[in-house]
Amino acid sequence: MIKKIGVLTSGGDAPGMNAAVRAVVRAAISKGMEVYGVRRGYNGLINGDIIKMDERSVTDIIHQGGTVLYTARCLEFKEPAGVAKAKEKCNELGIEGLVVIGGDGSFRGAADLSAMGVLCIGIPGTIDNDISCTDYTIGFDTAMNTAMELVDKLRDTSQSHDRISVVEVMGRGAGHIAVNTGIACGATDIITKEVPYDIDAIAKTMLEKKARGKQNFVVIVAEGIGHAQEIAKELEEKTGIEARATILGHVQRGGNPTVRDRVEATRMGYYAVELLEKGIGNRVVGIKDSKIVDYDILEALKMKKPYDEELHHIAEEIAF
Ligand code: ADP
Ligand code: F6P
Repeated sequence: MIKKIGVLTSGGDAPGMNAAVRAVVRAAISKGMEVYGVRRGYNGLINGDIIKMDERSVTDIIHQGGTVLYTARCLEFKEPAGVAKAKEKCNELGIEGLVVIGGDGSFRGAADLSAMGVLCIGIPGTIDNDISCTDYTIGFDTAMNTAMELVDKLRDTSQSHDRISVVEVMGRGAGHIAVNTGIACGATDIITKEVPYDIDAIAKTMLEKKARGKQNFVVIVAEGIGHAQEIAKELEEKTGIEARATILGHVQRGGNPTVRDRVEATRMGYYAVELLEKGIGNRVVGIKDSKIVDYDILEALKMKKPYDEELHHIAEEIAF
């Protein structure tokens, strides 16, 4: 029976990470384990920035964005010497299991530490929803809702000026935030890396729509495409319609998590502790068809996530 576990958040923060930390801490305590909070990702494991958590340590955090454990990108942990230091620290404290809340990079680190004998369980936490083994990652819903609210506000001003609003949303290389936000905001066009696009064709269609009475346009651009400013400039030149670009940026990572993020984070956090309780490690937890699943970390990292092209095409077809 595992007696001591740790929990850390790593990579970009995401709303709902606190709900996952809370679930891990409370589930561990309820199952009779001691639990430690490792601060600032793998840095905390290497430097010993580790605090004992009790049931009150996670009071009043379920509704907060960000992560009370802080997060970081730790270059040292990418080297075998860094992993060895982390393993030593676990040995010193008697930490036998570790829950790692983060993205693919964090899971690679968890696989390395698992290979050294620490039972690691990954929980997908990133606003980008770009982790292949799971339908859902913690933070995705909140980030999209934030982006949607901001685009709604932009629409007011865009509409008042008869303009084109080009809005860049986050997602790193993936267009999942862009396509869903685009649908939710009734965007005229959605530009992501996953579906080929042609600015001339977009401009031509805008002019056709304008001729039929449409007066303002919202174009959602995925971060992976970049160049929101250039796209706005090109569209203005090609259509003669005034255009403005807005990069929503890090504001999409903040704010109180939605119901979905709190619930999924809690389910996955609880399940991660159940795996550790059974002495199981080197797994990533995910959600497939609404059910909790788990996979070998390296197998999970090899999977490919499809982009919802159907959603993208529906958006295009009905945007007139
Ligand atoms: P994410 O987990 O969101 O993908 P990163 O790619 O920044 O974010 O990874 C978070 C942290 O995970 C890194 O700072 C590093 O400590 C660790 N990490 C990333 N890639 C690897 C790797 N290939 N091997 C070991 N650890 C890694
Ligand atoms: O992975 C989450 C994310 O917000 C991406 O959407 C974005 O590309 C990246 O992190 C930004 O990272 P940073 O916080 O280092 O600027």
